[in-house]
Amino acid sequence: MRKVLDLISQEVMNAFEACGYEASYGKTGISNRPDLCEYQCNGALAAAKKYKKAPLAIAEEVVAVLKERAVFVRGQNGEGPICMSRTEETGDAYPMFEEAAAVRPGFINLKVSGSFTAEYLLAMQADPNLAVEKVRAPKTIIVDYGGANVAKPLHVGHLRSAIIGESVKRICRFMGNKVIGDVHLGDWGLQMGLIITEVKKRQPELPYFDESYEGEYPAEAPFTISELEEIYPTASAKSKEDAAYREEALEATAKLQNGQRGYYALWQHILNVSIADLKKNYGNLNVEFDIWKKESDAQPYIPDMAAAMKEQGFAYEDQGALIVDVKEETDTKEVPPCIILKSDGAALYTTTDLATMVERMKLFDADSMIYVVDKRQEMHFTQVFRCAKKTGIVKEDTELKFLGFGTMNGKDGKPFKTREGGVMRLEHLIADINEEMFRKIMENHEVDPDEARQTAKLVGLSAIKYGDLSNQASKDYVFDVDRFTSFEGNTGPYILYTIVRIKSILNKYRTAGGSVEKGTILAPANGSEKTLVLAMMNFNSVIAQAYEEIAPHKICAFIYELANAFNSFYHETKILSEENEEQKKSWIGLLDLTREVLETSIDLLGFSAPERM
Ligand code: ARG
Repeated sequence: MRKVLDLISQEVMNAFEACGYEASYGKTGISNRPDLCEYQCNGALAAAKKYKKAPLAIAEEVVAVLKERAVFVRGQNGEGPICMSRTEETGDAYPMFEEAAAVRPGFINLKVSGSFTAEYLLAMQADPNLAVEKVRAPKTIIVDYGGANVAKPLHVGHLRSAIIGESVKRICRFMGNKVIGDVHLGDWGLQMGLIITEVKKRQPELPYFDESYEGEYPAEAPFTISELEEIYPTASAKSKEDAAYREEALEATAKLQNGQRGYYALWQHILNVSIADLKKNYGNLNVEFDIWKKESDAQPYIPDMAAAMKEQGFAYEDQGALIVDVKEETDTKEVPPCIILKSDGAALYTTTDLATMVERMKLFDADSMIYVVDKRQEMHFTQVFRCAKKTGIVKEDTELKFLGFGTMNGKDGKPFKTREGGVMRLEHLIADINEEMFRKIMENHEVDPDEARQTAKLVGLSAIKYGDLSNQASKDYVFDVDRFTSFEGNTGPYILYTIVRIKSILNKYRTAGGSVEKGTILAPANGSEKTLVLAMMNFNSVIAQAYEEIAPHKICAFIYELANAFNSFYHETKILSEENEEQKKSWIGLLDLTREVLETSIDLLGFSAPERM
């Protein structure tokens, strides 16, 4: 369905044209003086220069036409509201504007009519997509997010990628694209060699380390996830102090990458144990990947990729390494060449990312790849993207987008740490938040503790996710537990609280014998209802913007405004005790639509609301 601003602009443009001016001057926006009007067109000011006329005179002419003929006509065949002039009238016609005024020095101030808003909301209600227009040409989009590393516990550093990526994936999908979320696990570097080396030190008798062993390897892993999580940091610390240990780990990495049987089998165990744990943790975050690809999956593509780059003259040898130049004349910062293979023939992070693109083109014929990664990796992606375009790994029109996110800081403005100053594990962070939510829920009123635990999980997740997503992704933000878990202000719990409040009114209405129906919405009965309605009518345009700009924070800003508008309306309006049945039905329909819009929005952000709280 068409966006409100487009419908209004269209009418105003028609009016400019009817007065003999270029239609484009009629472009109309949301008013920045809501005390004066709802929508505003400043086109007369620009037209004045071109037509050498007083801006106010132009505005007055246009307003006269708007009053005369702007009408809003019910769309036919379920196509949603459309606008046309009276001469083309085909259905029920209403004035689109309840007020149109030309004001000094030449603004056109507009207020839409209640019949227009009612019609618009009715059409929204009837549309399963709540008036959001899907993209005309759906794309195949890969969202690369999560990026966890095998055998390392998820910590807060992984939180943003998971949260933002999940939302981006959902938004792209909601717009009608074919979207594949890929966790792109780090499973192939030195970290693997380190773990293998440390396991070998501890349990040298295992068959994985016996090169002459030809039998089958045990089905059971020689470590649990908690052991694994202790093994890696131990090994990593040792390698920093002990050069020989590091050498051994490097060697183990090379052997693994060259396919040594025992190491390969051990690596399989590391993967299995680790992935099972990661799935559980991501599950707790309501984050779901469509594919669990790993860096190692890209390895088979590397030899051909490197050979082709050489053959086509893109890659050349420099001090033994194979490199591709990617700098451009307009660069203001030095962009170093992309290293494809090190002098010892080893693959790098760059190599893996390029080979992964080869695979993504082959398996999915991707139109677009969106990388949700720490913004400190921006240079890496600049190099990789340029190299992929230059060497033809992707097509000229394949979109490669880097959504770099900022750091999650503590209240001290430094990267978020545990109270003891260590790296905070994601599990612990989630548990802490849930505990805090549980405490707040129990404190508020008497609830069954089991139910409160479940509710705390949902509300806790909203606190974490909304706290993150309400900031523009590229900015750093402060993870403030007290603020994020508050039921007041711009927080996830406040949004959920609003949804639950609506649900409770609807339930009361149902309990009293009412049925919640669509198709009942009337013109707004008071100012706060109009504010709510106008906010809601922006839904499709907000979602489209969040999609085009890959900006989930726009959805947060929208639902915060909508929730505030709803709560003001609720405080000023006695809904259930309303005696006029038609009015009451209209409000109930409006409430249910508000709920639907809010719940759809939070689903796009990756969390959901409980029934009560
Ligand atoms: N595993 C990487 C890290 O921890 C993040 C992976 C991001 N995705 C990518 N395709 N490089 O830094």
